[in-house]
Amino acid sequence: MKAVIFDLDGVITDTAEYHFLAWKRIAEQLHIPFDRSFNESLKGIGRQQSLDNILTRGGAASTFTTAEKQALMRQKNQYYQKLIENLAPGDLLPGIGKLLSELKDEHIQIALASSSRNAPAILKRLGISGDFQAVVDPETIEKGKPAPDIFLTAAALLGVSPAECAAIEDAEAGIAAIKSAGMFAVGVGDERSMHAADLIVSRTSQLSFHLLYSGWKRCRERQQTERS
Ligand code: G6P
Ligand code: MG
Repeated sequence: MKAVIFDLDGVITDTAEYHFLAWKRIAEQLHIPFDRSFNESLKGIGRQQSLDNILTRGGAASTFTTAEKQALMRQKNQYYQKLIENLAPGDLLPGIGKLLSELKDEHIQIALASSSRNAPAILKRLGISGDFQAVVDPETIEKGKPAPDIFLTAAALLGVSPAECAAIEDAEAGIAAIKSAGMFAVGVGDERSMHAADLIVSRTSQLSFHLLYSGWKRCRERQQTERS
């Protein structure tokens, strides 16, 4: 294992909750039902696609012009940015600071594969920008999660092969992306939504270098036995 690739929202910090609250506000304005279970399907999905999914759910897919949709996305982002205004180093999810320093001690490379255009600003506010050797710019990625592209780009930026990577996600689309990139997938969340992951933890405080490394190694050994 030469690299660990992180998702941001819901893995490094609890901004997944703020995306939920901001989209909920937009959906309510449009009188479209919005709940946590529907929100699960939006996790890891880019801004434009998220809005399209919400509008489709409300039977309003073709009600808005491109300019109106742009305005809705801008408004959602304003709500979201207001919610993350006071984000600070203390908002790292439990165990993430410790995991980052363990990875540094073990000379494991670290990258970010988030679909959020707010990601660089969030890393800065959390005080961890310097820990990342690569941060993928989601605007350069043609196909978002569940396509593997963002994770493959992260590996390419680090100069490692997908098989040498473990990646951590809290979204179903994210786990699908990691698996189709051929990487070891670590899911944070409940067994039901993370069932496709190679390793599941219910909370970030359970993550450690040792847990990732032993899981990654077991998975690679199993694949080698299957191949021979
Ligand atoms: C991440 C989050 C999504 C969010 C997307 C785009 O994937 O999980 O909930 O919609 O990023 O974020 P942005 O900050 O660019 O609107
Ligand atoms: Mg996430």
